[in-house]
Amino acid sequence: MIKKVRKAIFPVGGLGTRFLPATKAMPKEMLPIVDKPLIQYAVEEALVAGIEELIFVTGRGKSAIEDHFDRSFELEEALRIRGVKVDHITLGVPRLSPGSIAYTRQQEPLGLGHAVWCARHLIKDEPFAVLLADDFIHGKKPCLQQMVEAYEECGGIMMAVMNVDRAHVSRYGIVDIACENNPLVTIRGVVEKPHPDRAPSTLAIIGRYILNAKVFEYLERQEQGAGGEIQLTDALGHLVSQEPFYGFRFEGKRYDCGAKAGLLIASLAVALSREDLSCELMPELQSLLANSDVMQKVIKRA
Ligand code: G1P
Repeated sequence: MIKKVRKAIFPVGGLGTRFLPATKAMPKEMLPIVDKPLIQYAVEEALVAGIEELIFVTGRGKSAIEDHFDRSFELEEALRIRGVKVDHITLGVPRLSPGSIAYTRQQEPLGLGHAVWCARHLIKDEPFAVLLADDFIHGKKPCLQQMVEAYEECGGIMMAVMNVDRAHVSRYGIVDIACENNPLVTIRGVVEKPHPDRAPSTLAIIGRYILNAKVFEYLERQEQGAGGEIQLTDALGHLVSQEPFYGFRFEGKRYDCGAKAGLLIASLAVALSREDLSCELMPELQSLLANSDVMQKVIKRA
């Protein structure tokens, strides 16, 4: 019988150096897309997919994330005095039931595989999801929900996948495709950050996984992979021949919010999809584009 996916790991220990100085004293996962931090989008996605226990693997300087998902009595009181019905809006943050959220620390940033391994005692022996908040996926049905629905039919190990430019494969885990049955891709191998000439395909792993506790046996070995880090992809590579192993071609657009341009583009995409912002934004954007130096050069060249 396929067990329900009840738990999710959110690795949030990364340093966020690409966003300095914004992330000097603030976790990169708290960077907003419009008015909501990246991590909250990931948490809401998990809740919609039926996740009941949220496990954050944090590090130094990440306490703002814990505060964000806590009650803020001062703020609630201040709003109440102003006549706002706080119980109903709960400050726009999902109110999590006591005990449904746990924090464990990754003392050293040794890689994604290591971060996931740090949560092994909280997962015990059941399937679990991993969500990387940097990978923001915008679409009608949240990505993890799409995956959970597929997983309930076929079980196994599953990871979100999408095609990328061959020039960019060295930024990702890349899968070796055995066969396709859209949206499922049966996988016969995975490799982390390959050189474009040696990549088995251009189908990249995106930060949504459904895994099981077997992966901890391989993470336990603490083997270093690409970039000298303990890679989740390498541990999963050992499971390819042991378990049904699928890529899932999700519906929706993925933005790499671990990079400045990705975060900016995601913010624009979300803002343009919102009624409260699109009307104000559209003419401003058009005028910005029309007056930008880059645009002028493009027009001259054409
Ligand atoms: C991680 C994973 C990689 C995956 C990527 C997706 O890499 O190791 O396999 O393709 O997330 O965003 P990172 O971005 O942490 O280097």
